[in-house]
Amino acid sequence: MKRIVILISGRGSNMEAIVHACRREGWNAQVAAVVSNRPQAAGLAFAQSHGIATAAVDHKAFSDRDAFDAALADAIDAHRPDLVVLAGFMRILGVAFVRRYEGRMLNIHPSLLPSFTGLHTHQRALQVGCKAHGATVHFVTPALDHGPIVAQAVVPVLPGDTEDTLAARVLQREHVMYPRAVRWFVHGELSLDDGIVTHAHGESQLFL
Ligand code: GRF
Repeated sequence: MKRIVILISGRGSNMEAIVHACRREGWNAQVAAVVSNRPQAAGLAFAQSHGIATAAVDHKAFSDRDAFDAALADAIDAHRPDLVVLAGFMRILGVAFVRRYEGRMLNIHPSLLPSFTGLHTHQRALQVGCKAHGATVHFVTPALDHGPIVAQAVVPVLPGDTEDTLAARVLQREHVMYPRAVRWFVHGELSLDDGIVTHAHGESQLFL
């Protein structure tokens, strides 16, 4: 049984989608813990009510990033993860933390990387008149919102879209793509070669 630790900061809808898919599809894996940097994160209540261990490591309680990262790593390592999943986790992580989990840490970012790294991705896509937008699952490397691409989901940008309608359309696809990408990892179906991720049996890594 592979062990997954999921990091969240708020709502946690991607985490929910992963928990549900893991149980429904009978993965050879379990979500061992959900860890938040915000003690009030709504997603923690969902995890608790589904019998999953939770922890909060409040970034505000630490004077510097290294101390926070070290406490976060302790909380994660207590659950001996094979995979760490960032799902709406809104803190920038230091190089040592990233290196510790390199090759076994995934993130989801709400844009078609390498476009629109950082924040306010939906608003920025609308501002420049993108006709397509989406989300990316990638391995985490020290550079923010970079790293080998595991999967991408593409949605149309429609006339009259607002930041909210576009975000909702992307989020719906995130909930399909992220559980699939996590399942691929825990079932050992991904290979990483020279920065390129491929699926061992040729499953499509593009979600339309
Ligand atoms: C998602 O859009 C994700 O791509 C981004 O933050 C949002 C998190 O939503 N990183 P949720 O907490 O999973 O509901």
